[in-house]
Amino acid sequence: MRTFFLLLISIPGLMKKHIIDFKILTNTALNHNHNLLEMESAVPLPEMLPGQFAEVRVDGSETTYLRRPFSIHRVDYSSNTMHLLIKSVGKGTETLAGLKPGDKLNVMLPLGNGFPLEENKKVLLVGGGCGIAPLWFLAKELKLKNCSTDLLIGGRSARDILMADDYRQFATVHIATEDGSLGETGMVTGHSVLKSESLPYRSIYCCGPDGMMRAVSHIAEKQGIPCLVSLENTMACGIGACLCCVVDTNQGHRCVCTDGPVFNSLELKGWSAETEVGCSLDK
Ligand SMILES: Cc1cc2nc3c(=O)[nH]c(=O)nc-3n(C[C@H](O)[C@H](O)[C@H](O)COP(=O)(O)OP(=O)(O)OC[C@H]3O[C@@H](n4cnc5c(N)ncnc54)[C@H](O)[C@@H]3O)c2cc1C
Ligand code: FES
Repeated sequence: MRTFFLLLISIPGLMKKHIIDFKILTNTALNHNHNLLEMESAVPLPEMLPGQFAEVRVDGSETTYLRRPFSIHRVDYSSNTMHLLIKSVGKGTETLAGLKPGDKLNVMLPLGNGFPLEENKKVLLVGGGCGIAPLWFLAKELKLKNCSTDLLIGGRSARDILMADDYRQFATVHIATEDGSLGETGMVTGHSVLKSESLPYRSIYCCGPDGMMRAVSHIAEKQGIPCLVSLENTMACGIGACLCCVVDTNQGHRCVCTDGPVFNSLELKGWSAETEVGCSLDK
């Protein structure tokens, strides 16, 4: 009975959503526009799945009326702490990047579906820029599931490659930079881990810019490997009420906030290498 109950609450759509006031413990500037927020909850953290996200209320910004979505980067249930990785792109994220230890952060979580987890398999994780945010929690859980994980991180230059050393405890880390200042020169899709005609991976997990995810998904599709992509459509409510995050799929329109953010790339209309040109012309 208990196992059945635990199974039930682990189904993302049935997971109860919580609104929690966190206290900021540390705010670490990782480079010119990325901050790592470590925060503590006074109440026990609910179960979360890698790939799920949180909606954060931005207090102190006069123009940020709606909560902003962020991937759950790290969770530690033993200390009731969580980390978010923030890239400053506008008023909301700039305000969050300015938080100080002791400040309060009101967060709704866990939201969305999360990545399906392989067990005892070889897998590849691909993160572009801030797209590595959900891959920490994912890499950690995949290690617990005895997977052998390669992580490929891409960025424009060395300063865009964040926390690569921290990920080495869970995965073999590979790096590609466009200017060649770290790792192999070029885009992630040109990296040697993706060059083989017969890639050794059971699944490829991907988060980052849309163009990067599409290019990786085409390589995966060619070799019959499932590619799980985490979409970052603009969101408002985060709970399926406003329909502003809708994406076109083979099953019709779906909300990225409730049916995603993780989708198999082949579920997404226009993402297949075979249909992409035709679909984009239709739009
Ligand atoms: C499921 C999900 C998970 C996310 N995880 C993270 C994360 O872990 N770390 C992180 O830094 N960001 C993440 N994002 C993106 C983040 O939510 C946006 O960057 C943030 O909402 C921007 O708020 P703002 O007020 O600073 O910018 P705004 O003032 O709202 O916008 C500034 C600029 O950023 C663009 N922008 C806004 N939202 C997005 C978006 N979702 N994707 C691309 N461009 C956008 C706008 O078009 C505009 O040009 C995630 C988004 C989603 C949907
Ligand atoms: S953000 Fe409102 S429905 Fe998805």
